[in-house]
Amino acid sequence: MAAISVEPCTFALFGALGDLALRKLFPALYQLDRAGLLHADTRLLALAREPGSADDHLATIESQLRRFVPDADIEPAVLERFVQRLTYLHLDFVQPEGYTTLAQHVAEGLPLIAYFATAAAVYGAICENLDKAGLAGRTRVVLEKPIGHDLESSRRVNDAVARFFPESRVYRIDHYLGKETVQNLIALRFANSLFETQWNQNSISHVEITVAEKVGIEGRWGYFDKAGQLRDMIQNHLLQLLCLIAMDPPSDLSADSIRDEKVKVLKALAPITGDGLSTRVVRGQYIAGYSDGKPVPGYLEEDNANAQSDAETFVALRADIRNWRWSGVPFYLRTGKRMPQKLSQIVIHFKETPHYIFAPEQRLQVGNKLIIRLQPDEGISLRVMTKEQGLDKGMHLRSGPLQLNFSDTWRSARIPDAYERLLLEVMRGNQNLFVRKDEIEYAWTWCDQLIAGWKNAGDAPKPYAAGSWGPMSSIALITRDGRAWYGDI
Ligand code: BG6
Repeated sequence: MAAISVEPCTFALFGALGDLALRKLFPALYQLDRAGLLHADTRLLALAREPGSADDHLATIESQLRRFVPDADIEPAVLERFVQRLTYLHLDFVQPEGYTTLAQHVAEGLPLIAYFATAAAVYGAICENLDKAGLAGRTRVVLEKPIGHDLESSRRVNDAVARFFPESRVYRIDHYLGKETVQNLIALRFANSLFETQWNQNSISHVEITVAEKVGIEGRWGYFDKAGQLRDMIQNHLLQLLCLIAMDPPSDLSADSIRDEKVKVLKALAPITGDGLSTRVVRGQYIAGYSDGKPVPGYLEEDNANAQSDAETFVALRADIRNWRWSGVPFYLRTGKRMPQKLSQIVIHFKETPHYIFAPEQRLQVGNKLIIRLQPDEGISLRVMTKEQGLDKGMHLRSGPLQLNFSDTWRSARIPDAYERLLLEVMRGNQNLFVRKDEIEYAWTWCDQLIAGWKNAGDAPKPYAAGSWGPMSSIALITRDGRAWYGDI
């Protein structure tokens, strides 16, 4: 039985036939239902502009659900209950007319959750139409990324929403915040004095954050090419991870206490300008190579590609945080498409002991590392130095892990998808895991200056072969500081 209770609501999904809804959102809602976390009175409204019969669209939703939920998790009774909750409505999001019908399907006296899995350009119109239909007062709106492509456009979107909804009812998604291990960062840091007392420039030498993907562009060239990897991944996911690692302890777990601390970190990020543009950042674009031993095309040869594009599919950079805690501690961020494997991990490198007394050739290996693995194999491992066993080994050192692998340790508990947690928290009215307007704006401010610098410099992204860890210069970026990406030595 679930340990938390969830109030009933009407959940309206705008863009219900889109890729995100079919691949992630309906499966997440189904899993919540299966876990007993959808109230019996909760109703789901699937809203889309596509012509065609409601029955056909509902059949599509159900068949895609069967495709994206693992077979073992499909329980006929739950599936039937889930399908019973669903209603499909044809709706032109920007026209007010259809919203009267929508209002008739919203249960009396219950909150409406309006999830916008659609282009940000129509968020303002949807909000206005919800307001005209008399629904705004009891609605929480959920905004998917990307919210704009720079500070100015993100402000336009946020301002259009803010005309009808106070910040307390706006939930901006960054799905990384819903990942189990990202959640665990907060527990790890603030429930273990062991770490928190060491969590600063006295003890930590540097931090690495890697979010690597094996896939290429997957038919999303149109969207991706306008964004590039900096906007698509760094502006949101990697900066959020950096904030959770770098922030000061909040005074409590409330949404605003956590978000206030994250904003302080974003404000303290040193802009990367001048010489830093060539020494502290690397942009890359993949060329043809191999993935899982099979040849794959380069970015410019993907379907619908513009062969002149200079969008980056890889970024590595060194970020510096200008405050007492992190002065002199670089944060190396690296993210790219078509890397050798899917891997998201944070590595905290602790400083060497003040006086080294072991064999000189082992020195590089020494130093504790805390490895926080977000995916795959979610878990936390602390690498500690011990002595090799055996009479003949002398004081030969070895680095071994103290390991906590979440799926092995708690075998019975499945690790929920990020969207399950996020949808649950919206239904519970908890904004903890959602991004506040000022966070987005500071993140854009920092990224915008970097993009402007790139534009001025006019340098093309550096090529790297699909299936590699990025351009050689991304290795130079860190070796220049006398370090290496974790795993490279
Ligand atoms: C999305 C990006 O926000 O995150 C995608 O737009 C990327 O380009 C995806 O593939 C990665 O998410 P995850 O959860 O698979 O690491």
